[in-house]
Amino acid sequence: MSSQAKVSRPTYPNDIPYPRNQWYVAAFSRDVGSELLSRVLLDTPVVLYRTSDGSPVALYDRCPHRGLPLSMGKLQGDVLQCGYHGIEFATDGKALRVPQQEKIYSSLCVRSFPVVDKGPFLWIWMGDPAKADDGLLPDDSWMGIGHQDECVLPYQMFEVDAHFQLVHDNLSDTSHLPYIHEGVLEEGGLAGTDIEFREEGQMLWLLRESKRIVLPPPVAELFGAKPDTEYDRWYENSTFVPSLCLGRYYLTESDNPNAQPIKQLTVNAVTPSTLGKTFIFDVQGNLFQHGSETDVARIAYVIEQDIDAWHVLQQRYEQFGEKKEISIISDTAGLAARRIMQHLVSLERNEAEAA
Ligand code: FES
Ligand SMILES: [Fe+2]
Repeated sequence: MSSQAKVSRPTYPNDIPYPRNQWYVAAFSRDVGSELLSRVLLDTPVVLYRTSDGSPVALYDRCPHRGLPLSMGKLQGDVLQCGYHGIEFATDGKALRVPQQEKIYSSLCVRSFPVVDKGPFLWIWMGDPAKADDGLLPDDSWMGIGHQDECVLPYQMFEVDAHFQLVHDNLSDTSHLPYIHEGVLEEGGLAGTDIEFREEGQMLWLLRESKRIVLPPPVAELFGAKPDTEYDRWYENSTFVPSLCLGRYYLTESDNPNAQPIKQLTVNAVTPSTLGKTFIFDVQGNLFQHGSETDVARIAYVIEQDIDAWHVLQQRYEQFGEKKEISIISDTAGLAARRIMQHLVSLERNEAEAA
């Protein structure tokens, strides 16, 4: 018997695993091509690529023969050849050729996952494939797709060593901005602003409106606003549980309502990798110049501030199993997200037990 101490699973405030019968972002569409891309999504190793006509493919990343990750093989046209003994697999995961013999057993196949490109993202369905339905994907218009003035484009992917619930808690509530992002994103009054909250199915909206705020110079510069000028601000966080968080930020000059408003859309797709690791796919609207090193560095700086906090929280959960929390009014959306996730997970468990 191994003398190695058994490592207990980390615990989380609500012990929520993740619902599987949902669309999650597997990658930015631009990052999946004719090279094999290996990624662990919802505790499952997946290999991603595109066929010669550009169609996306996602297969379980393990050869059923002796287990080498298929991502260590190579593409021969649209066929994926395992790098160990050369068995070849079609895009649906079925073996097409076994170099060592003529017979191909039907059991020589790997699971394939439904994938679809939408917006800047490649979405994947990790649950029951019979339930995968493109109609369950978040709405185009809501994501800013096709809006000339929002024009969402992919920015950066972050790998965070923290449970995805910690990420949702943060992204669904802007009241942390004056503290974690002090002087970078906020002028200080946001936390005390009244909230309006709305919930509809898997969608949540949390709105904060402020009148006659003056942005400190670095924040004004970030958003292209005038210094020493009063603005009315409309800040909406909306969440599609469990996979997407949006922030819409509008500024209008308080004394010049006809001036061009400043708009910024931020989209963060949140995808669990494992219980202790989460991918964030960050997309920024057209206020920032896409690809500009300054803007990329600015956005990364802000997200790294959140990541620092998530890492500490994760470490504390793992080290001390701290679970007790006292929630406050600004947790309204985060708590609703947890409740919905718990509901989705329970539904899946009940269905599995009934099957
Ligand atoms: S492990 Fe893949 S062909 Fe043998
Ligand atoms: Fe943040």
